[in-house]
Amino acid sequence: MEGSVQLDDNALLVLRERYLIRDEAGTLLETPEELFRRVACSVSQGENNDPEGRSAEMEEAFYEMMTSLEFLPNSPTLMNAGRPLGQLAACFVLPVEDSLDSIFDSVKLTAKIHQTGGGTGFSFSRLRPKNDVVKSTMGVASGPVSFIRVFNCATEAIKQGGTRRGANMGILRIDHPDIMEFVAIKRDPAELTNFNLSVAITDEFMRSYEENRDVALINPRTKKAAGKVNARELLRFIAEAAWASGEPGVIFLDAINRANPTPHVGEIEATNPCGEQPLLPYESCCLGSINLSRIVRNGGIDWQRLQKLTHLGVRFLDDVVEVSTYPSEEIRAMTSGNRKIGLGVMGFAHLLIRLGIPYDSPDAERTGGEIIRLIERESKIASNRLAEKRGPFPNFKGSVWDRKNLLQRNATTTTIAPTGTLSILAGTSSGVEPIYDIRYKRILPGGIEVEVEDPLWRKAKDRPDADELRRRLFRKAYEVSPFAHLNIQRTFQSSVDNAVSKTVNLPETATADDILDIYVAAYRMGLKGTTVFRNKSRGYQILSCGTHQ
Ligand code: CDP
Repeated sequence: MEGSVQLDDNALLVLRERYLIRDEAGTLLETPEELFRRVACSVSQGENNDPEGRSAEMEEAFYEMMTSLEFLPNSPTLMNAGRPLGQLAACFVLPVEDSLDSIFDSVKLTAKIHQTGGGTGFSFSRLRPKNDVVKSTMGVASGPVSFIRVFNCATEAIKQGGTRRGANMGILRIDHPDIMEFVAIKRDPAELTNFNLSVAITDEFMRSYEENRDVALINPRTKKAAGKVNARELLRFIAEAAWASGEPGVIFLDAINRANPTPHVGEIEATNPCGEQPLLPYESCCLGSINLSRIVRNGGIDWQRLQKLTHLGVRFLDDVVEVSTYPSEEIRAMTSGNRKIGLGVMGFAHLLIRLGIPYDSPDAERTGGEIIRLIERESKIASNRLAEKRGPFPNFKGSVWDRKNLLQRNATTTTIAPTGTLSILAGTSSGVEPIYDIRYKRILPGGIEVEVEDPLWRKAKDRPDADELRRRLFRKAYEVSPFAHLNIQRTFQSSVDNAVSKTVNLPETATADDILDIYVAAYRMGLKGTTVFRNKSRGYQILSCGTHQ
């Protein structure tokens, strides 16, 4: 028996329910330590393709950083490494062309991906609009929304073999003729329950918005205008839908493509389900997160350990690209061509509490900025060293890294993931979000509802100055102003290659105008997208407040 991992009750519950191997009778066949050993052993086999690879040494280093809960890879890696499925990435984007063959090929691939715990994103912008002509049958087209329903039903039927509910992202360009139907569809809570939706907004649209002009809606089949709409009215319509239901989100397509490291390989049209990973069609990416709460030593940040974890994290994820299996040959080819990885963080709010810094303060932005700049810089150094030994990613020539003359093993190295499950396993706050509350109800993966008390609050609540600490340091998501949320998103976005998973939480009393202001501010900040969530705007919430202070 190896040394034990310090997991709290909820972490053990989630591990037992979803991650630990069982036999057909349901008996557990591994302990949490054995799970991490399985992952470390399997991922370190990626070293074997490197003449200077050090698989035994790396296995120990990987095992140690996982069991100390300093670093965790995304869920599919924990579930599938060293097991028959062997598919380790959380994020996929699949193409949807304007033909039945393409649509149903993607439905099939989606099913295979969901079976392994991966999430899928699609742009539906190439589909001809509703009521357009279908030559072969002399009929009329049913439009993007009805095809999104097909993906939604397929996802419903699979339910990922009981391990993980399939997650999808559906994207439609703002100039698609069916945009109004797309924006309004999720006001009905029974619609597209396995999808997040995002409107892809362009720079041109935002210019029309600023100048209060009309925008043309373009039929993607004919490339001709099929109507027009006032830009301000349309963005307001989106804000009203988001006010009512938290959907759709928005992504800023041109900002995403300005940061596309391989424009010579293709244009980016979509992201993964939670928006933090823009990808090319058929591309996949594996994420991993450093637990910032664990790098606080004696009231300060252990920069050396953070640097070490960044190097190890990049090496781990590069090995993952090597050992993972891929759901199709196209996905294998595209993923191995760019070798994108997404190293990020969780536990940022807990780090701030431990350092005595309020989340909505200039100090928080400064601290976040220092951390993410170090991770970004060191991840590039790590990827460069791997490229020297293992070779650059195959599409390197013609990439932005080629133009910058910086040899890289990976087309991207950094992403801030939501860490929905990972943060439960690590017993810390998720991603770069503030704590949700000091006590709250949470629906764990698997549908179990639990009461959670923030572990740092549990220690602080008996102190004589607990009330003051609560107000100053334990800042809840809904107490943090929308602009403080955006400032933190900008801080991290400024130094990550991919994107930042971030929700701007709004109080129940917020208005559609508040949401419009957030869109405009997010666009001006150069962010890649925004998600807003007004408290109680959806009947079913994964998190709900337990205190009203
Ligand atoms: O914490 P964990 O690794 O489980 O996942 P996360 O950081 O909350 O989400 C990262 C990505 O995993 C998402 O953006 C999706 O691509 C994927 N995901 C999914 O496919 N299904 C879910 N139920 C949750 C996440």
